Amino acid sequence: MNRELRTENSTRTVLFKIKRQASPGSQAYWEEFELPWKRHMNVISSLMDIAANPVTREGKPTTPLTYDSNCLEEVCGSCAMLINGRARMACSALVDNLEQPIRLEPLSKFPVVRDLAVDRSVLFENLKAVKAWIPLDGTYDLGAGPRMSQKQQEEAYPLSRCISCCCCMEVCPQFNEHTGFVGAATISQVRLFNTHPTGEMMKHERLTALMGDGGIQECGYAQNCVEACPKDIPLTRSISDVGREVMKQAVTDFFRR
Ligand code: SF4
Ligand code: SF4
Ligand code: FES
Repeated sequence: MNRELRTENSTRTVLFKIKRQASPGSQAYWEEFELPWKRHMNVISSLMDIAANPVTREGKPTTPLTYDSNCLEEVCGSCAMLINGRARMACSALVDNLEQPIRLEPLSKFPVVRDLAVDRSVLFENLKAVKAWIPLDGTYDLGAGPRMSQKQQEEAYPLSRCISCCCCMEVCPQFNEHTGFVGAATISQVRLFNTHPTGEMMKHERLTALMGDGGIQECGYAQNCVEACPKDIPLTRSISDVGREVMKQAVTDFFRR
């Protein structure tokens, strides 16, 4: 690195504006932090530096910053937050690609636990409601499972990449307390498990769980979810496929009464 570039790098700084909140019910406020620029720094590495030395831009010591993160490689789904107003993963958000000051806020549709950490348990409750799993009927050797064709595997794999980050729910106009809508991630998991040769034995229960209030009919098909998904999951295809299955199931159930 030549001397001019080295000098420029040593004087460059990055400015963060972070929305803070001490506890679930308390008043939110903003604080600014300035960090020396480093090559390849991302939002999570910056938050680590701020948490290790919680001093504001004005030089005032403050409380350590709280945020969720784990894998640091867009796999665990825990670091979702609003970065410059957009729901995305903090560990894959490179500082050099962001406009400054970089505004960090907690996801807006989930209860704040503290600072940037939110309670996303609603997704896990929704997944429980649709039985997003394949049940085991024992721990003994059941032999080889049913074989899946290459085509089935290729269709299922993208759906299995969901990291439960909740970005799709954050951006969905229908995901709110009035509708109680389960959101795109849950619907897509229904498609994944219903198309699995073993999982499909609970297909009826899963489709029934998506009928009625908060079910799939709440979706307005605005497609914000598919744009926001960091794992490129074909959410709108899942919504239309599962919607069709729910409709077929409802008609069949009606005539069986
Ligand atoms: S298509 Fe629109 S309304 Fe439906 S889940 Fe996605 S964002 Fe929400
Ligand atoms: S579907 Fe995509 S956006 Fe939604 S929770 Fe899964 S990974 Fe996140
Ligand atoms: S830290 Fe795991 S997805 Fe960002």
